[in-house]
Amino acid sequence: MKQVNRMFSDRITDVPRSFIREILKVALDPSVISFAGGLPNRQLFPIESLKEATCKVFETQGRDVLQYANTEGHVGLREYISARYHEKANLVVPVDDILITSGSQQGLDLLGKTMLNDNDAVIIEEPGYLGAIQAFSLYRPTFFPVPVCLEGMDPDALKAVLASARPKIMYSVPNFQNPMGISYSAHNREALAMVLEGTDTILIEDDPYGELRFFGNAKPSFKSLLPKNTVLLGSFSKSLVPGLRLGWIVAQSELMQKLIIAKQATDLHTSHFTQSIVHQFLLDNSADEHIRMIRDVYGHQCKAMQSSIHKSFPFEVACTRPEGGMFLWAELPLGIAAIDLFESAVRDKVVFVPGDPFYVRGERHNTLRLNFSCSDEQTIETGIARLGRAIRKLMEAM
Ligand SMILES: Cc1ncc(COP(=O)(O)O)c(C=O)c1O
Repeated sequence: MKQVNRMFSDRITDVPRSFIREILKVALDPSVISFAGGLPNRQLFPIESLKEATCKVFETQGRDVLQYANTEGHVGLREYISARYHEKANLVVPVDDILITSGSQQGLDLLGKTMLNDNDAVIIEEPGYLGAIQAFSLYRPTFFPVPVCLEGMDPDALKAVLASARPKIMYSVPNFQNPMGISYSAHNREALAMVLEGTDTILIEDDPYGELRFFGNAKPSFKSLLPKNTVLLGSFSKSLVPGLRLGWIVAQSELMQKLIIAKQATDLHTSHFTQSIVHQFLLDNSADEHIRMIRDVYGHQCKAMQSSIHKSFPFEVACTRPEGGMFLWAELPLGIAAIDLFESAVRDKVVFVPGDPFYVRGERHNTLRLNFSCSDEQTIETGIARLGRAIRKLMEAM
């Protein structure tokens, strides 16, 4: 029988610890090559410019930025976000529809808090972002996983879910998805929008990687295809730095009013100090230039990983070809478990994330996520060669 500790709520008892956090402990050993994390490359953090922005903020607004502030967030920062949506995606997003959050991870929690009752249906990508699965799980929904392939989410599988349930939320990462690194095609986005049209399901379009495109053209946002039913999540974590914990939610007025209540109950507001620093940084520096540099570096790292895979992995291993972002996904031949590969790879001092926890139904065991943003090209080659040898050994033992 399940042991219950009276101290804990059912809601927290039912949510497992993050498997990735456990894996990352192994990766702390500096002699281990890690493709496991989901971290942006720290070498690209604009330390000097952020230092200058911080000094300027202290000098010009010291007392104001250290005071309590409004829940919605820094007006100048929200105006910047609104203008950038207009410039980059031709989206009209009123400033009042933007709520600054402590990372987009908080956006997921606030949406769960605001929208979900026990057992409400939530559509999730399969495989899907672990942080979303964890955030929503606290609100005890029933997950309906819909498979994701190279083109995007399967519209027929989505139709089948809508025929059997009335989902409150559909969660999706259409650009350079975490964990697979794939992007939904324009055709796929249109097909999914058509399926959702006329329903009351809210599509959460989580887009922390959208600006990190190495090649190809941007695809239409769900916000443009299904404006009334889409909530957008954005973040400065991947395009600037994650440590200042700044993200945002774009939602229309009725939902926004409730999100503001949830945000007040959670933390009153996101740090006005860090919002002001980022705002000052954006006034004094070119975001485009900075993002171009990140894209160049990640693009080369991605290419290096792909050519190392081509050289070192058995041809039976299928991999995605990301057009941007930070991850690549590999599928091992059936019968080889990624957990077994992980155990032998750790002995060879290279780690990755086995794909198992990204499936809420837990029925796939032969997939893995590889992060390329934090390793230089030489390290990528060495690590992938070690992984290739470990895969071959497991295949020989089959
Ligand atoms: C798809 C996705 N959404 C949200 C987040 C959380 O990001 P933030 O740092 O903005 O909270 C991540 C972080 O890796 C992510 O991959």
